[in-house]
Amino acid sequence: MSKVLFIVGSLRQGSFNHQLAADAEKALAGKAEVSYLDWSQVPVFSQDLEGQTPASVQAVRDAVAAADAVWIFSPVYNFAIPGSVKNLLDWLSRAVDLSDPTGPSAINGKVTTVSLVANGGHDQVADQYRTLMSFIRTNFVDQLTFSRVNDSAWADGKFIASEEVSTDLSKQAEALLAALNA
Ligand SMILES: Cc1cc2nc3c(=O)[nH]c(=O)nc-3n(C[C@H](O)[C@H](O)[C@H](O)COP(=O)(O)O)c2cc1C
Repeated sequence: MSKVLFIVGSLRQGSFNHQLAADAEKALAGKAEVSYLDWSQVPVFSQDLEGQTPASVQAVRDAVAAADAVWIFSPVYNFAIPGSVKNLLDWLSRAVDLSDPTGPSAINGKVTTVSLVANGGHDQVADQYRTLMSFIRTNFVDQLTFSRVNDSAWADGKFIASEEVSTDLSKQAEALLAALNA
């Protein structure tokens, strides 16, 4: 069974993106093996740190390398990719062998896709991911899910996907699986 690694782009307890990821996990149940990346300890990128790859960076690289696909669930911060997620992707984009900067990275060649929970900026951030995920040489599956935050979630913390979002998520899961089996 294919291995799909989920990256929840919010470290917040109760994250709505994390709740959407749980819905996506159900959409993949029995069809792929899902795991979640722990990227909470990855430091702010500096080329000075690259020479002696930090253990937290090695751990995320190993997890990504072991996966067949990466599915990102991302908030929108100021109509842009959250800096923390971009930082993680910057680490993942770097060549594993520093003596060959154009050589393979942990993420290049992986099937990738993105879902977004936010109330504004979906189109802008989707375009940013399209550019970024292609630039870092991933096989980007452009069948995305955009969700708003349901009003009641701001009070009770419970994200509820609309019917349309649930349908989109299933279509995205199928497109991801199709890319893996292509
Ligand atoms: C720095 C920052 C910038 C934000 N900018 C936006 C934005 O541009 N559009 C939007 O819809 N929500 C924005 N939000 C609100 C987030 O969408 C909201 O906090 C959401 O719950 C984040 O996803 P999460 O629940 O997975 O953490 C912003 C939040 C933060 C902390």
